[in-house]
Amino acid sequence: MLDAAGMKKAVAEEAVNRYVKDGMNVGLGTGSTAYYAIKRIGELVASGYDLTCVATSVQSEDLARECGIRVVELDEVDRLHVTIDGADEVDPKMNLIKGLGGALLREKIVAAATEREVIVADSSKLVEKLGTKAPLPVEVLQFGHQHTRYALQRQGCEPVLRMRDGKPFVTDGGNYIYDCRFPNGIDNPFYLETMVDAKPGVVENGLFLNTAVDVLICDPDGNITSMADSALKKG
Ligand code: A5P
Repeated sequence: MLDAAGMKKAVAEEAVNRYVKDGMNVGLGTGSTAYYAIKRIGELVASGYDLTCVATSVQSEDLARECGIRVVELDEVDRLHVTIDGADEVDPKMNLIKGLGGALLREKIVAAATEREVIVADSSKLVEKLGTKAPLPVEVLQFGHQHTRYALQRQGCEPVLRMRDGKPFVTDGGNYIYDCRFPNGIDNPFYLETMVDAKPGVVENGLFLNTAVDVLICDPDGNITSMADSALKKG
């Protein structure tokens, strides 16, 4: 039986082995699963792969440089061939909640510049309906953030300002995050995304809808499943 760290390592390494090829531009995700993907990418670079990488957070950029990976700004590349990132929740259609690690804004910008967004997760992240286990993180401007909170609350959630060491958590973009808990989950994520994005003060939300081209999941027995392959098999 694998523990959580074992599942994350196994699935991240599988995704890198499957999707990262020599010469690619690669997006580096953020979080404890993406950590293992970055380590594996570092091994590929050490073995001679010529990769150009873009990080979704300062934390991942620092790790990548420690691993000997060449990291550039997103605007230095035309596009990314693949990005390997984690998620906080995955529904059966490969829609996601992301951002518990605080990097949702850059993660979404990088995903939008990526041909193949590949998500890696352990099986605890699978849900039938988004918002049932994780809150939805929403990144907001610091200016007037209490008013943004009231506007978010009117969508039927309880927004809680994310804190760290007794102070509001500040993202790499200099913003705050409200973690929005929906008592019965999110009924229509596409509608909710439109409503949340329309609120003044909202910078980005953690819904990643129709973004992933594949989600690899590892269960405690070490079985790794590709949700894209399963969907193909189901027809
Ligand atoms: C970072 O902001 C998040 O979107 C992460 O991708 C997400 O929180 C998954 O993190 P773990 O792999 O640590 O669970």
